[in-house]
Amino acid sequence: MPAPPDLYQQAALDAAARAYAPYSGRQVGTVLVLADGTWVPGVRVENASFGLTISALLNAYTTLRTAQRNDLVGVVHSHPLQPDEEAFLQATPPGSWTADTLRAWRSRDHPWPTPTSPLNPFLPGPLPKEPEAGLARARRVAEGAFIPESDFPVGCLIATDEGPLVPGVNVEHADWSRILCAERTALSTAVTYGVTPRTVYVSCPLDPTGSPCGACRQVLVEQAAGTIVWQDRGPAPALRTSPEALLPHSFQGQPLRTHPTSTR
Ligand code: THU
Repeated sequence: MPAPPDLYQQAALDAAARAYAPYSGRQVGTVLVLADGTWVPGVRVENASFGLTISALLNAYTTLRTAQRNDLVGVVHSHPLQPDEEAFLQATPPGSWTADTLRAWRSRDHPWPTPTSPLNPFLPGPLPKEPEAGLARARRVAEGAFIPESDFPVGCLIATDEGPLVPGVNVEHADWSRILCAERTALSTAVTYGVTPRTVYVSCPLDPTGSPCGACRQVLVEQAAGTIVWQDRGPAPALRTSPEALLPHSFQGQPLRTHPTSTR
């Protein structure tokens, strides 16, 4: 069993250090390895409502789908894969996975590619000045949605304090419980790459009344507090709102924060 290149293992440990795990302290990170040696990091993103926690694997997978990549050939994890993570992997293309070590899984058909560079998930600038410009870009992002189940594209673009523009699409799965919405895809990518949301643009091109779902609102409140949220209204003027306005009286779970060092 060939062990994966050290660089991937180190990248997974580096990602783990950036996990958002104030409730469990489980600093888990992963890298997904693509056929050309590009690697895609992902970190665990917990939520006060525990069931909304995004695993490191799902986080990285939705990042790579948003980047229009579908050539996943390997996974290197910071920890031994848990049963739920292994189940996720087995249901994820290319499907025929083999464990080289407890922490490294590889497509049966591929040797480990030599590392080339980390994926740059960001869209090129500049920062949208007008809400309409941000929403036009979110609409373009939606064109890359991975939607075999619904044919219902959603696009999200997050402008950050640090400058990068973080895209996210909805990424679907035959098992609906594993689907991630566009907003949560973008938010979890922002956590992985350590950038701070400032303005969130959301577009459902097929539904001019579209609005973030309840689960996304809960994650927005925790990961994008104090930001502005612009919602596409099609031909009508954009709707300005905020995570707090979208989810008043939200569950904050302060007493659950037993690992306060793992916060942003
Ligand atoms: N969806 C989003 O991406 N964001 C939302 O806030 C609403 C729903 C996606 C999830 C799924 O892929 C499809 O739309 C149907 O629910």
